[in-house]
Amino acid sequence: MEYPKDKGQVLERYSRVFPRSARVTYAPIVGVKARNALVWDIEGREYIDFLSDAAVQNIGHNNPRVVQAIKDQAERLIHFTFIYGFPVEPLLLAEKLAEIAPIESPKVSFGMTGSDANDGAIKFARAYTGRRAILSYLRSYYGATYGAMSITGLDFEVRSVVGELSDVHYIPYPNCYRCPFGKEPKACKMECVSYLKEKFEGEVYAEGTAALFAEPIQGDAGMVVPPDGYFKRVKKILDEHGILLAVDEVQSGMGRTGKWFAIEHFGVRPDIITLAKPLGGGLPISAVIGRGEILDSLPSLGHTFTLSGNPLASRAALAVIEEIEEKDLLRRAEKLGKHTKKRLEEMKKEHELIGDVRGLGLMLGVDLVKDRETKERAYEEARKIVWRAYELGLVLAFLQGNVLRIQPPLTIEEELLEEGLNRLEQAIADVEEGRVPDDVLTKVQGW
Ligand SMILES: Cc1ncc(COP(=O)(O)O)c(C=O)c1O
Repeated sequence: MEYPKDKGQVLERYSRVFPRSARVTYAPIVGVKARNALVWDIEGREYIDFLSDAAVQNIGHNNPRVVQAIKDQAERLIHFTFIYGFPVEPLLLAEKLAEIAPIESPKVSFGMTGSDANDGAIKFARAYTGRRAILSYLRSYYGATYGAMSITGLDFEVRSVVGELSDVHYIPYPNCYRCPFGKEPKACKMECVSYLKEKFEGEVYAEGTAALFAEPIQGDAGMVVPPDGYFKRVKKILDEHGILLAVDEVQSGMGRTGKWFAIEHFGVRPDIITLAKPLGGGLPISAVIGRGEILDSLPSLGHTFTLSGNPLASRAALAVIEEIEEKDLLRRAEKLGKHTKKRLEEMKKEHELIGDVRGLGLMLGVDLVKDRETKERAYEEARKIVWRAYELGLVLAFLQGNVLRIQPPLTIEEELLEEGLNRLEQAIADVEEGRVPDDVLTKVQGW
C-alpha cells in the first residue's frame, strides 16, 4: 500500500473517487492516528475530538481493551458465517445485550450498521403486528438504506427521486425550545401528545399501525430532549391500540447519556431497540433487540446478512461493554455531562449567540441564534465556529445548520475536556467579535 503524504493530494483524490452522496464535509482533517479523545492528522496536527467520531467512540478511539480483543480474535477466527455455523462470539454478545436491554425476554438480530438495524425493526414490527403503517417523527434520522431512509423525517430530496416505502406518517417531535405548536413550556398542555390522538382520528388508522419509531433524544435534529412524561403518555396511547414502540438508540445508546439506553431516562419499556455506531468500538456491527415473540415473527432468513454476527466485530463489542462496566462509564458520562452542561450554561451568560443548551449525559447540543427573542437560527455563525474550532484544534460539527454537536468520548480526560471547552468558547468569541472572515463559509458544508 502506498500511503499518501500530502493532505492536499488526499482531498483532491477524495473528490475524484467518492460521490457526493457519500459524504458531508465540516473540516479537512485527514485522520491517520487516534487515541482516546485525540486525533492526529496527516500533517501531525493534534485535535481534540468533541464528536467521538460521530458518536462511535464512546470508550475512546483505539481503546486498548478493544485493540487487544481485535488482535486476539483476528489470530483465531475473523469470520465463520453465523447463518450456517455457530460461532461463539455473537452468542456471548447477544446474551449480554439481552441482559442489559430494558426489554422483557428479548431476542437479538445482528447486522452491520444502524440503517440496516432500523430496516430490520420495520420488518419485525410489520410482521409481528400484521399491520403496515409506521409512525415516525419530523426531523428524525434513521439511516440511508431504503427502509431507514423511508421513515427518516428530514432530507426528503433523495426520496423524491428514488422513491420510498409507503404507509409512513409523521408527527412533530416534542421540542420545548422550538415548540412546533408555538407553546411555552409553562403554558403548554402537551399538545404534542394530543396531536397523536388527532392523527389517529383524522389521518392514520390506529389499528392498522405497526409501530412508532422514536429516537429517545433526537440526535440529528439538534439533540432535542423530550419533556418529562412525554414518552409515558405516548406509550399509553400506543398500548391502547396495540402499536409497538421501536426506539433508535444508534446514537444515544451504549452509555452516551449516562444510562445504557437513553429511553431508560423516561420510564418506559420499548418493544424494540436498535443499536449500532458505538457498539463495535469502530467495527461495523448493529443489533435489533426486541421482545422474543416480535423477533420470531419473520420467516427463516427474513432478516440476516452473510457478515452479520461477525466474530471479530462481536468480540470488539463485548470488549466495549466490558470497558463500560469495569470503568463505570455510565456514571462518568453523567458526571462529565453535568459539568460540561454547566460550563456551556456559563458560556450562554457571556455569549448572546447561544440560545439554548440541552442534552443528557455527554449527548449535548448548543442551539445558536441570531436573536434570543425570535430564535432565528444562526447558520453562518455555526459554520464559522466549526471552522474556527478546527483551526484551534477541536473537532466539532453542527446539526440542522445551527446546533453545535457536543459528544466527546465518555473516557475523555478531564483536563482535555476542559481544554476542548476553552477552545470552543474561544471559537464562539472569535466569531462574535468578527475575527473569522466570510470566506470560510465556502469551506464548511455540513448539514
Ligand atoms: C439516530 C440514528 N439512527 C440511525 C443512524 C444510521 O446509522 P448508520 O449510519 O450506522 O447506518 C444514525 C446515523 O447517524 C443515527 O444518528
